[in-house]
Amino acid sequence: MNVADSERAATHLRQAGYELADAPEAADVVLLNTCSVRERAERKVFTRIGELRETASNKPLIGVMGCVAQLEGESIFDQAAAVHLVIGTRATDRISLLIERAKAGEPSVLDLGERGEGDAWEVSPVERHSPYVAFVPIIEGCNKFCSFCIVPYSRGREKSRSATDILNEVRRLRDFGYKEIHLIGQNVNSYRPRSLEGLEKFPGATPFCRLLRAVAATGVARIKFTTSFPRDFHPDIVAAIEEYPNLCDWVHLPVQSGSDRILQAMRRGHKAAAYRDKITAIKSARRRLALTSDIIVGFPGETVADFADTLALVRECEYDALYIFKYSQRRGTPAAKMVDTVSEAEKKERFIALESVQREIQNRIYQGYLGKRLSVLVEGTSARSEEDMSGHSTCHKVVNFHGGTELEGKIVDVLITEAKTNSLYGALVN
Ligand code: 5AD
Ligand code: SF4
Repeated sequence: MNVADSERAATHLRQAGYELADAPEAADVVLLNTCSVRERAERKVFTRIGELRETASNKPLIGVMGCVAQLEGESIFDQAAAVHLVIGTRATDRISLLIERAKAGEPSVLDLGERGEGDAWEVSPVERHSPYVAFVPIIEGCNKFCSFCIVPYSRGREKSRSATDILNEVRRLRDFGYKEIHLIGQNVNSYRPRSLEGLEKFPGATPFCRLLRAVAATGVARIKFTTSFPRDFHPDIVAAIEEYPNLCDWVHLPVQSGSDRILQAMRRGHKAAAYRDKITAIKSARRRLALTSDIIVGFPGETVADFADTLALVRECEYDALYIFKYSQRRGTPAAKMVDTVSEAEKKERFIALESVQREIQNRIYQGYLGKRLSVLVEGTSARSEEDMSGHSTCHKVVNFHGGTELEGKIVDVLITEAKTNSLYGALVN
């Protein structure tokens, strides 16, 4: 989401006549886009501001945008005197005006306002992070208010983009040669546009299911979507994936905990059994769908028995990948008022225990790919070796193989010969 926001800000700034610099030393203005989902991410920005003050001898104007800006607001000026601008999560279309004010000498420019009516979602291809993979936001904000989570406060209420806009953008991206579209949002399956214009010809149990079918019908090579919220995950999503081969075989469905008591304290709005039912639907698809999830360990009040429930659920679900986080208290969230009963040492222990269970499962799943062919979108040279190319499979695995840069941007078949911890290795199939 932050990558998409930076692309959006860059598009706006270029339209307003700004050029993007390659390095802070060459810039008149440096904007830091920030994340506040966990404490560690939030602390990073202040370290970075300190570094900038020391290294950028040209003394650029410094602005903080994104979630930290939205949440900390004016207090950032007190915490970091070098900051001139604080730009909230919905001020993207006003950044150039804010910079003008700072350039005119206004000492502390602040905008925590809402988006304007006709604010742009569209991103110019030159600002995209990749010429082959494009992030397309379909919904922003969150109405769920899980008790641990800062997102509803940093990004405001759910706002869905019109389907016509989304479909036009996807068609343009397809015509530009993009091979993979990621529909993104805090909760994509809560997608609820003001009208169903553009989706008339596409059936579906929910607006998101209809949108998936409509995006698939554009014929773009691959479509992935993230993140899905369990309570709103309708089995018709699985049906749509079965109908359209270009809807990729991967679902990210964060569960956060396997204990009903903790799920309730987290205010997730579902029990473990209901989540299991969703997983059953995903696992009974005709194509094998890769499944990934997020877990928080050490939520306030999490007992050894609660954690055992999480381990059991993870064993059962057999995730292709799992993102594990130690609970991080976020000021202003309901969970921040709960007593943090799990010590740092216990959190670490649980993290390691869960990681090792997942590693065992994941190794088994990855081994299962040996001798199989995967369709891979070649995204660039491998970070490990100049001789290898790297990309993602439709099931969202990192796949490396011996090959040259002429393959970049192509979709190729790779025969898997080796399974690593978090990636697969193979040979190009002609
Ligand atoms: N502490 C730890 N992890 C968190 N996440 C969100 N908020 C917190 C928090 N306060 C995790 C959740 C979410 C992922 C994006 O980040 O697992 O799914
Ligand atoms: Fe946060 Fe819950 Fe919303 Fe996800 S659904 S962004 S965890 S409040």
